Amino acid sequence: MVNLKVIYFIMDKKAVREKIEFLTKEINTHNKNYYVDNSPTISDYEFDLLLQELIELEALYPDMILPDSPTQKVGSDLSNSNKLSFKQYPHKYPMLSLSNTYNINELKEFDERVKKLSAQPFSYNCELKFDGTGINLLYKNGVLVRALTRGDGNIGDDVLRNIKTIQSIPIQLNANYSFPSEFEIRGEVYMPYEAFDKLNAEREINEEPLFANPRNAAAGSLKMLDSNLVKQRELHCVLYHIISDSLKEEKQSDSLKDAKSWGLPVSEFSKECRDINEVLEYIDSWELKRKELPFPTDGIVVKVNQFAVQKSLGTTAKTPRWAVAYKFKPEQALTKLLSIDYQVGRTGAVTPVANLEPVQLSGTMVKRATLHNSDQMELLDIHIGDYVYIEKGGEIIPKITSVELKKRSTEVKPAQFPTECPICKTKLIRDEDQAKYFCPNNLKCPPQIEGRFIHFCSRKALNINLGEVAIHQMFEKGYINKLEDLYNLSDLQLLSLDKWKEKSVNNYKLSLEKSKQVPFNKVLYGLGIKFIGETTAKSLANKYLNIKNIAEATKEDLLATEDVGEALANSIKDYFSNRDNLDTIKILEEKGLQFKTKQQKPLSNELEGMTIMITGNYSIPRETMKQYIEAHGGKVGNSVTSSTTYLLAGDKAGESKIKKAEKLNIPIISEEEFYRIASPENNKENIHNNIYNQDINDTKKDDIDNNKELTLF
Ligand code: IVH
Repeated sequence: MVNLKVIYFIMDKKAVREKIEFLTKEINTHNKNYYVDNSPTISDYEFDLLLQELIELEALYPDMILPDSPTQKVGSDLSNSNKLSFKQYPHKYPMLSLSNTYNINELKEFDERVKKLSAQPFSYNCELKFDGTGINLLYKNGVLVRALTRGDGNIGDDVLRNIKTIQSIPIQLNANYSFPSEFEIRGEVYMPYEAFDKLNAEREINEEPLFANPRNAAAGSLKMLDSNLVKQRELHCVLYHIISDSLKEEKQSDSLKDAKSWGLPVSEFSKECRDINEVLEYIDSWELKRKELPFPTDGIVVKVNQFAVQKSLGTTAKTPRWAVAYKFKPEQALTKLLSIDYQVGRTGAVTPVANLEPVQLSGTMVKRATLHNSDQMELLDIHIGDYVYIEKGGEIIPKITSVELKKRSTEVKPAQFPTECPICKTKLIRDEDQAKYFCPNNLKCPPQIEGRFIHFCSRKALNINLGEVAIHQMFEKGYINKLEDLYNLSDLQLLSLDKWKEKSVNNYKLSLEKSKQVPFNKVLYGLGIKFIGETTAKSLANKYLNIKNIAEATKEDLLATEDVGEALANSIKDYFSNRDNLDTIKILEEKGLQFKTKQQKPLSNELEGMTIMITGNYSIPRETMKQYIEAHGGKVGNSVTSSTTYLLAGDKAGESKIKKAEKLNIPIISEEEFYRIASPENNKENIHNNIYNQDINDTKKDDIDNNKELTLF
């Protein structure tokens, strides 16, 4: 870091200001991704490096610290107040964060500082740093009465009903022991690896987005509105910090022992250490051992053990001076690159995926890692047979971060990105915008065909009970090639698939029957016409009412449809000029699929003539919000234009849309204001209760498909 300081001194003031602005904005975005969305895009280590850089710059130029600097406040997990979620309460004592380091020397410096500042002798209590989400429990007369998330450190969300689903947390303390009549105890809610793997496996089957890591899964689960679903998530809790005005214990280690006797879950792995050497031994002993634990940890927390000394050291605005977290660097593993597969997706995009000599990394055996694209391969100068470092970042699939050149043998061969599709051998085309190569043989290339079936069967389209493995087998066996083939499979063919029994056949057939009721816009989306997303499928279905009208529409007419541009209009014309596609549609129509828009009677005409543009997240799923608008006679816009009536801005509303609306003088309204406009006869409470009764986190797909949700309004 010394080097950085020198660089900062030679940077001119403007450059420093720009750097501070950049880091502030960048870190705030990552904080939001991490705490609010539970979906980080960088690893903790990368995040900590950015934060460290900002801390150092701000220390040199304190007059340039920005009001929204992340160094001045703890990251916030608070639900948007707009959201109908949890009641929020202030923390009696602010819920601080911990200063952290990856460096043993800095830990020794911490020890020196504490020794200098404390008048009394002291010891340390070393604890595992559980990698979950913080929680603050309030017990009054032995009864659990509140459970606040950290929120912004001052105010938290009360997730008591969800906390009560965690078995190890007592609702009533053990009355045989004496505990303070009122106290708070803080800790971590976490998800063991096994539960995490199970959850992601289920989500994969259901085609739901996967959680990047157990921490995000725990934080996301704790914020679910339906406690019954939270219960299924198998959350655990460990408590590590009691706060009370009338605590009789004098040491952290004793307070945890007592908390255990009261019935509270505390860690069995904490240890009192007499001095920094013992602390270092403790850290050493866990560096490897922690990998055998069934739950995630990301470091060791070193706390001054004596409360009196803690008190004399005090806190800064953000962190206590009496504790520090020593964090383990993200785990890396070194392994051999055996080969590279070039995977072809539904759209023809080709992605390089590395096959590795299997290696253990953060509790799982890794055999494959992504190389992103050809540019990344060039940057790494990767050779087949190289030894490569792999890391788990914010994402789910591990990535190759570097090549160990010292281990490169003379046998290695440079990896060559193919010029032809690895499957159908068609010459690849490079799309400069996306830095990706594509196979243009959309109609005949097998993975693209399989991809089309996967898309057709997906939840947002026809919602047919068929997974990727079964689709692959059906294709390999020659049972399916065109979409309509799905409706012609015999029982014998279905039973010939791996693990398919009578029950799977019946489920499949049932979902085929149900697919006949799926509305036209979803069928149109399911056909997989290039560039037709869910929203455009809706606009087209609304405007043209049936497939024949779309097929016969002129390019000019298509271009006059909201959100339809040149590329999409061309793609539609291409699609309908192909005989095979027309045959597919004809047969699917004969099978009973919906190729006409069913006119729905609006529930009211309060929004008639209005075009409402929606942006951001609401307390109800976006899909439901769209249905709500349409059910009250309104139209959902695709972009902010002069004919937009309102911009309905939810949580995380798009900045560019807000700016455009301001420029065009389009009123920007909140979710609450919107309900008042759409349903003036309903008071706020009623609407909220109706919506609240839904399972917001897990929209029931059948309900949406059958439009049952509309009855809620
Ligand atoms: S003590 C004022 N002890 O790590 C001190 N925190 O990165 C409060 N954490 O906010 C924290 N294990 O959510 C403490 N044994 C432990 C911990 C721990 C995990 C979390 C906690 C904290 C975060 C800081």
